[in-house]
Amino acid sequence: MTEDPISGMVVAITGASSGIGEATARLLASAPRSRADTGRLAVPPGNHPKGRYPDPDMALQLSRMPLWRLRDFHDDDLDQAISVWDQSREPTEATPAFRVSEVVSAARSGQPAVVAVVGDQLVGIAVAQINGDRAWITMVALSNRWRNRGIGSALLAELELRLRALGARRISALLPASATGTAALRNTGYTERTDLSFFESVDHIGPSDAGLLHALGGRIMGRGLWDAMAGMETEKRMIERRIVLPLARPEVAARYGVSPPKAVILFGPPGTGKTSFAKAVAGRLGWPFVELFPSRLAATDVTMPTALREMFGSLTELEAAVVFIDEVEEIAGARSGIPSDPAHGVTNELLKLIPAFRTQQERLLICATNSVRSLDSAFLRPGRFDYIIPVGPPDALARKAIWTRYLGPTAGSVEVDKLVEATDMFTPADIEFAARKGAQCAFEREIESGDGDPARTDDYLAAISETRPTLTDGMLTEFDEDIETRTRL
Ligand SMILES: Nc1ncnc2c1ncn2[C@@H]1O[C@H](COP(=O)(O)OP(=O)(O)OP(=O)(O)O)[C@@H](O)[C@H]1O
Ligand SMILES: [Mg+2]
Repeated sequence: MTEDPISGMVVAITGASSGIGEATARLLASAPRSRADTGRLAVPPGNHPKGRYPDPDMALQLSRMPLWRLRDFHDDDLDQAISVWDQSREPTEATPAFRVSEVVSAARSGQPAVVAVVGDQLVGIAVAQINGDRAWITMVALSNRWRNRGIGSALLAELELRLRALGARRISALLPASATGTAALRNTGYTERTDLSFFESVDHIGPSDAGLLHALGGRIMGRGLWDAMAGMETEKRMIERRIVLPLARPEVAARYGVSPPKAVILFGPPGTGKTSFAKAVAGRLGWPFVELFPSRLAATDVTMPTALREMFGSLTELEAAVVFIDEVEEIAGARSGIPSDPAHGVTNELLKLIPAFRTQQERLLICATNSVRSLDSAFLRPGRFDYIIPVGPPDALARKAIWTRYLGPTAGSVEVDKLVEATDMFTPADIEFAARKGAQCAFEREIESGDGDPARTDDYLAAISETRPTLTDGMLTEFDEDIETRTRL
């Protein structure tokens, strides 16, 4: 340990004996000896008395300050490190790119991490992750009282030594603009790149959620599902504006007094895309999709209301979730008026569970039904569901988009308009089926004759004539009436 003659400040870089991660220790042993393992002393660049503190009064003040020194991060530092990190952030600061939990677990697993300490007190920390010759500085944090004293620069210089010894040739840092550490990075000669954009795709599933999600049969849905929904522009616009955007951008919604929805119903004839929309919404939000199957609830060894309650109980443990109940009329059908009817119990239970569900953050319940008119009237009363949205059969424009989607590259050589015209009463599901049948027909012909012809309009028209459309006039009349009387938007 050396005393700087002018500032009187003592800066010691001590050996990495106990806290150093195993991998780091191994690599350091084979690397050129650094300050860390020689115990040699150093004055951090930002602290150099001649450079920074020419004023003798300041030097005097500094001489009365307690001494700080640098060393490797130890597991015991964890609590203090988190508290320093907390202090070091401004309330308005952007969320960091690396979460504190991942930074800490990297430090604990032996990735390079250096702390500044004053006696037993931890006052600063810098952590990196290294992979081959590339390293990322993932955190620089300083406790409030110890800012602007060059500790940040010293931590970085020390961390860099470790990284270079481990083979890093390119060291980058990704920190919120103006976060603690950005000044130190500039001072230590890092180039600030403002020509890059940071992109991320976050699954709202914590490591602790993974097991639970698996047990609940939940999944993360792809973001591409939304774009894969062809046509259906009216439904898409409505669902995007009323459901997706307020949940995805809650701060903007709050500014305009919009309460993001907690529970919605999608209704419409079979095969129109209700389930697909529910999954696509989960994909857009990046929240796990958990489908609740009434038949599975019935198959447990407890009563259905109890199974339902337990299921909702487990859901509260997830960080975020889109909960989907298909054919909800099975558990929330109009009550018969006979009090002993066992279906009452489960309907009542669901009615009780929804208000509690609505109080939780990052939750959306989507119920789908082909028969909105058969739902219990108490279930539909305002206060439980924010929106009741019709998902109708595709019009000609939507059918064209859906045909084009399912024809894929063949769409260029097929008269799509003819197919659209021939599929007036078809749902998206029917079109998907007919498209597959037409392609299959061309495939079989190719196997038999090998003439290399692609699927033709005729193949698809034949497939259409063999496909019974789902929609009937009766169904459409009912749907129109339901739109009139049940829609809530
Ligand atoms: N807009 C669309 N574009 C392309 N494919 C679609 C579209 N909507 C639905 N499909 C396809 O149609 C099939 C049926 O859709 P889905 O299961 O979502 O309908 P549903 O309304 O939930 O039906 P049900 O009432 O029978 O539960 C799925 O294979 C889906 O991929
Ligand atoms: Mg469905």
